[in-house]
Amino acid sequence: MLHGPNLNLLGTREPSVYGKTTLAEIDQMLLRRGEQLGVQVRCAQSNSEGELVDLIQGAAAWADALIINPAGYSHTSVAIRDAIAAVGIRAVEVHLSNPQAREPFRHLDLVAGACWALVAGFGAVGYLVALERVAAAHGLAFEES
Ligand code: DQA
Repeated sequence: MLHGPNLNLLGTREPSVYGKTTLAEIDQMLLRRGEQLGVQVRCAQSNSEGELVDLIQGAAAWADALIINPAGYSHTSVAIRDAIAAVGIRAVEVHLSNPQAREPFRHLDLVAGACWALVAGFGAVGYLVALERVAAAHGLAFEES
């Protein structure tokens, strides 16, 4: 799980847009659901484009799948898109909000085209949807209890 710029501020950052769930709570949710699914989840956040590229390249050595919220870099970063395409890992892009329903500059998404799937507008739940669908694609089922 890679979180892009400004997502370290979740909880206090524009809560009317992004909700009140903190990044630590999102990571906790993912780790817990990962345990239920039998998936090892590792989470990282960076405000820097180059570091995100390094993390994507590094993940190629051990990860079966990548969930990424590139945040503001979704709309600008050829480098992050190219890194995802280069490593060839199954990737899901997640957005808390629905960028298509927001300002026009958020309508362009350079990263999504390199991803297998996109989840947007469901708030923090979207991360769990991404994890569950990625796990299912790898043959691991999640039973709602
Ligand atoms: C975001 C949407 C982006 O447009 C924005 O720059 C973000 C968060 C989201 O999760 O809704 O930082 O990726």
